[in-house]
Amino acid sequence: MKMYDIIAKKRDGKELTREEILFFTKGCSNDTIPDYQTAALLMAIYLNGMTDNEILSLTLAMRDSGESANLSEIEGHTVDKHSTGGVGDKTTMIVVPIAAALGCKVVKMSGRGLGHTGGTVDKLESIPGFRTEITRNRLVVIVNSVGACMVGHSANLAPADKKIYNLRDVTATVDSLPLIASSIMSKKLACASDCILLDVKFGSGALMTDMGEAMSLANEMVKIGKAAGKKMAAVLTSMDMPLGFAVGNSLEVIEAVKVLKGEQKGDLYDICIELAAHMAHLTSGLPISECRRLSIEAIDNGTAFLKFKEIVAAQGGDTACLDNTELFERAEFCTEIKAARFGYISHLNTQLIGKASMELGAGRAVIDDKIDHAAGIILEKKTGDYVAPGDIIATLYTNDDSMIYDAAVIFDSAIEYADSKPETPPLIYDVIK
Ligand code: URA
Repeated sequence: MKMYDIIAKKRDGKELTREEILFFTKGCSNDTIPDYQTAALLMAIYLNGMTDNEILSLTLAMRDSGESANLSEIEGHTVDKHSTGGVGDKTTMIVVPIAAALGCKVVKMSGRGLGHTGGTVDKLESIPGFRTEITRNRLVVIVNSVGACMVGHSANLAPADKKIYNLRDVTATVDSLPLIASSIMSKKLACASDCILLDVKFGSGALMTDMGEAMSLANEMVKIGKAAGKKMAAVLTSMDMPLGFAVGNSLEVIEAVKVLKGEQKGDLYDICIELAAHMAHLTSGLPISECRRLSIEAIDNGTAFLKFKEIVAAQGGDTACLDNTELFERAEFCTEIKAARFGYISHLNTQLIGKASMELGAGRAVIDDKIDHAAGIILEKKTGDYVAPGDIIATLYTNDDSMIYDAAVIFDSAIEYADSKPETPPLIYDVIK
């Protein structure tokens, strides 16, 4: 088999076989295929797309390029949840304890933040003592006893995807639906849970800004998961403004605690109830309406918050901070963003808000950047709110005051005003099964 022939076949719009895709994936990860040939094939895929069979073959080949988690000693069906990423998305810290309180076995493997989106691992690590690197044996013990564990990805998770993604990043081939779907699903399948719930976001802070494209991505990923033998569902949700009010690591933990204690309702609460209900539905088969009722009850009767404390304690974290969130370290500097005029906030460009948060130190521009766990943004107003000049729209927090001016300028540019109240799209658009 020759890489030249595989490139030519894809260039001419023909379907690659499973063997050809395996040859390419193996050669790419063990460096026997030069980067220029991999890049050429990626561009041919970008321009010509892939069939469902090709996408499945690529996903499985990338999954098998590294280790898959061994969850066989976990008692009961395991469930995982994946969000395609957004700004202020702290749903994992709320949804995982709710689902565990309902009896699900949740093995949640997450990544770190990069660019304008945050990562669950960074958020969790803002809880003093919390460990996201856990041995497999300990993970099994925690999930069997507590019901859930939230850890980082293993270093050897789908290495072929890492190699291919790095090349996509420098060859303008990131925005390819088959490549995105296979990239995400190769890692989720390697995490090896029996059931997978996807939260596929659309809007100005999402991977897919367009709702139709997000729907196609969700459909494709559900198809891949089912073909690989998983129970699957995808919830299509809006990311056209930050989720909740907090953006930034410890600020988001504090907000998650408020929701778990039943002290905050609204968009974040609504989305978490829906996601937790779908996780419970996938694993138990109970009607979705019953799973929704049980999820609400778990917040109302305190079992979801108790479960969060159990998970945090099992992973070495200090639960005193959760009982009293005043104990979280606070940022040294802050500045307020005030409304420039009378009117409604008609749009908050979510990607720009994520960038402002990154400037404050809450995120990484490059993979080696250090995180300031206390940095970030608290929104006082959101899309649809009426403001008068001088009203506080947000407060920015950081420990590095050299960045605060630039962050404020970026945040200001994210705000759009209108004279009439804007229509806001539904938060939860569709569920794909
Ligand atoms: N996230 C991934 O893991 N892969 C992509 O291609 C895009 C987003």
